[in-house]
Amino acid sequence: MLKTLHVFGAIFLLGGVTTHALLRPMAARAADVAQLALYEFAWRVQLATVYVGSALVLITGLLLWIGHFKLFTGWLLLGVLLYAAAMGLDGAFLAPNLRRARTAAGEASSAVAGAAMTVQLVAWLLLVVVVFLMVARPF
Ligand code: HEM
Repeated sequence: MLKTLHVFGAIFLLGGVTTHALLRPMAARAADVAQLALYEFAWRVQLATVYVGSALVLITGLLLWIGHFKLFTGWLLLGVLLYAAAMGLDGAFLAPNLRRARTAAGEASSAVAGAAMTVQLVAWLLLVVVVFLMVARPF
């Protein structure tokens, strides 16, 4: 049950982050009205999947860890570290960037939009590595 919730959380989280990675390049190139609509949609995705998924994965992950695996388990420690890095990028830059972009007339600058695309891809890659660690448990 707990593990099912954990995997659902992982699907939500990675699904949302993947959607953002695909939406951002589209939104950056779109004309004014379409751009606002796309950023609005991206923000809804953030609320419905990334926030829900990240909370679910954290809570259920810690509950699965306690009592079942040793504290110093390599794949778990690295997984949590990479999860924290991805969520740090999301909370400090990616989410505020989306929140601003959906209300302002377009994004502040195309340089910021370009940076956001790169950081979004890095966050996505970090989470893909976490999935690998959780499934393969290499160490
Ligand atoms: C705070 C962060 C996390 C903690 C503490 C954590 C903890 C765990 C633990 C203890 C298990 C093993 C459950 C068991 O076999 O009984 C597990 C499995 C799994 N986790 Fe995480 N996790 C975290 C984040 C994530 C993230 C961010 C993802 C993906 C985006 C993820 C995806 C998975 C998957 C797919 C499994 C199932 C692997 C399998 O059984 O083959 N986890 N996690």
